[in-house]
Amino acid sequence: MAVHGNPFSEEINDRHTFNGNDPENPSLSALADEVRTGLARTPKRLSSRFFYDAEGSRIFQEIMHLPEYYLTRSEYEIISQQKEEMLRLFERPGEAFELIELGAGDGLKTKVLLEHFRQRQARFTYVPIDISADALDQLTRDLRGRWPDLAVEPLHDDYFRALETLSSRSEARKVVLFLGSNIGNFSEKEAIDFYRRLYAKLRPGDLVLTGIDLRKHPAVIQAAYNDRQGLTRAFNLNLLRRINRELEGEFDLSAFSHYEIYNPETGEARSYLVSEKKQDVRIGRLGLTVSFAYGEVIHTEISRKYNRTEIRRLAEATGFTPTAWFTDCREYFVDVVFERDAERRPGERRPGERRPGDDSEGPDR
Ligand code: AVJ
Repeated sequence: MAVHGNPFSEEINDRHTFNGNDPENPSLSALADEVRTGLARTPKRLSSRFFYDAEGSRIFQEIMHLPEYYLTRSEYEIISQQKEEMLRLFERPGEAFELIELGAGDGLKTKVLLEHFRQRQARFTYVPIDISADALDQLTRDLRGRWPDLAVEPLHDDYFRALETLSSRSEARKVVLFLGSNIGNFSEKEAIDFYRRLYAKLRPGDLVLTGIDLRKHPAVIQAAYNDRQGLTRAFNLNLLRRINRELEGEFDLSAFSHYEIYNPETGEARSYLVSEKKQDVRIGRLGLTVSFAYGEVIHTEISRKYNRTEIRRLAEATGFTPTAWFTDCREYFVDVVFERDAERRPGERRPGERRPGDDSEGPDR
């Protein structure tokens, strides 16, 4: 463990550089590895990638409707109100484009876009990518039933392999959607890695639209992860239930509680499970017993919030230029469009580009 004065600067997430596997459906052996290594560390940790079994996905659907969980409503507002501006950005005269969605989900927000693009008779193919065949089949059936004339070409694969397939089979402009603040689960390093890999799979002029939760009053963020109904608590605790079910764990769910802390200095909301007593927990399939002190925590999730400067820096570090910022009326959330740059020679600068050591960052917003 890195020892810093500030506990929030631990390199807690560097253990799993994003590997392109879909977070939604890791295999049993991936869960087993995570539990074996994560619970042997100090402090203990388990990745939020493992939240989304059938029950976890169901709870997350409910979270999206919570009064405190503003993220989904903010992004829904953005898409509903600015879908025409988005289309104008995506379309080039006389050219079809590929609308590629990373992590298909139930597509509620995407359907608003698709319906609008259809009505406007835009020429595009919708390519949802997901590692979960179930999620993908359901979405595809739904879309084909609703709009038989819509071109839908699902790809059941991990994100980057799927993008590889796409770049080899078509010259069309790509517009990649990564919605819902899923980027928030990445550490800074993972986020940079993610856009670098996207850069490698895209061509100059291709676009990436990312849904990002913005920094705001800390109490608003804190409440979004501490809802009064206790759904976020159930979501977090479901990880232990999953370990019980899939790995013959013996976690007593009533002996763990949900703890959430938002740090407005770092922009990180962090979730923990706290052991409410000194206890030993047996995990049968791993032949393992894990000891917990009273008050000991398992770190389970980072939900990172960004400001505009950080988003601009992320683009700059990975070969993209932010070309549009779509926000909701409260400026809680942004759907930011990154355009992939052309390759540059080493040392070459874009007009107006800043480098470390240049003076003044300019205003934050
Ligand atoms: C699906 C990653 C965007 O971090 O806000 C919701 C997951 N965790 N409540 C988020 C989540 C707790 C969510 N993301």
